[in-house]
Amino acid sequence: MKILIIGSGGRESAIIHAVRNSRIDTEVYCAPGNGGTLDNAENITIKQDDISGLVNFAKNNKIDLTIVGPEIPLSLGIVDEFTANGLKIFGPNKKASLLESSKEYAKDFLKRNSIKTADYRSFTNFTGASNFVLKKPHPLVIKASGLAAGKGVFISNSVEDSKIILDSIFNKNIFGESGGTVIVEDYLDGFELSYMVITDGISYKPLITSMDYKKILDGDNGENTGGMGAVSPNPFVSRDLEDKINKTIIEPALEGLKKEGVDYKGVLYAGVMIKGGDAYVLEFNVRFGDPETQAILIRLKSDIIDLFLSVINENLKDYTLEFDDNKSICLVLSSLGYPKYYKTGYEISFGNLPNLCRDNGADCYIFHAGTKKINGKYYTDGGRVLNVCVKGKTQGIVDKAYEIAKNIKFENKYYRNDIGKSLFK
Ligand code: AMP
Ligand code: GLY
Repeated sequence: MKILIIGSGGRESAIIHAVRNSRIDTEVYCAPGNGGTLDNAENITIKQDDISGLVNFAKNNKIDLTIVGPEIPLSLGIVDEFTANGLKIFGPNKKASLLESSKEYAKDFLKRNSIKTADYRSFTNFTGASNFVLKKPHPLVIKASGLAAGKGVFISNSVEDSKIILDSIFNKNIFGESGGTVIVEDYLDGFELSYMVITDGISYKPLITSMDYKKILDGDNGENTGGMGAVSPNPFVSRDLEDKINKTIIEPALEGLKKEGVDYKGVLYAGVMIKGGDAYVLEFNVRFGDPETQAILIRLKSDIIDLFLSVINENLKDYTLEFDDNKSICLVLSSLGYPKYYKTGYEISFGNLPNLCRDNGADCYIFHAGTKKINGKYYTDGGRVLNVCVKGKTQGIVDKAYEIAKNIKFENKYYRNDIGKSLFK
């Protein structure tokens, strides 16, 4: 079977790994991929936003199944284009992807369907928004409605700060079109978690839980990032909490989509805040989270290609989604300076570490993210460079991840020191 994976991060590396573990023989392509996907797939130099280029590639090369990692191609309607060309593709269509690509759409959808979310107003100009924040208690949250690579959310502590933020979005256009509409919402103080399910538009199955470490510094301090690490399961999510999220968020959301004529197929990722015993939606993503997916997929027991096909063919209910009973950690090695300014192009030395190994009951995986390979050597090529993932049953997996992280060498290497700290507590 010929498989095309779109994206270039650690998430896509982990998807390739799972695809390689399928019972089905595969020929795997990755567009555009990274220095590591090159070793497990054929990298194709077509950008993730070049939808017609990707369609042509898939048609010309008779690709049997395409899997989309990131949100940008989904928001551009890659699924609609592939489907119109008779090509099988995993992910939600353009309309369904609005849940991530337009926070205004998502908030209005939540409200229409009586799903709890912070109270909000949307604005399309500076004057309206700044008059509104004058009257609001702070802190409050200001969000660009469109896609902003995770940088479009501000927590503001004062009217002065809110005005500066609104000025930079509306008047200085820091997010371009993505900042044309702005959401101002109440600040929710609580316990945050992310929760993913997979759906074929008819039924859904939750993925095992995971916890993302969003902040750049130890102890969850500093700036928000795409994610500096993940563990699975999420040690703070009980069965009861899972049930509550399914009943109060996932099921009404999937029902609402159906009722509104939106055909949703793929992963639905809810960013959730638990406050006063209630679960509020902070945001939806319409794709696998990165790096949560790496921690989850290394525990997948069932066949991932069958999973993708069962979603596309709308028979997910007949598919048995199984994970092993290990715990897992994914530690992100990044370039110092990420998520802001950082330098790349440094050679990476793996010593004699293999990409996959088994040591003392721990299974270890090194997934590439922001890397490139030139003349047989690997170089840093992005903010998040590598993912060290380990699964097993004891604290040893956390120690092992850190041991591997230490033994991988590149200039300006940075990682958090507290990933997985609560996993065995
Ligand atoms: P989002 O992309 O909407 O999930 O926002 C990014 C981050 O901002 C979230 O992961 C939260 O940590 C924080 N955040 C977003 N909305 C709120 C809110 N209403 N109250 C408190 N924190 C929020
Ligand atoms: N780790 C958060 C995300 O994928 O959006």
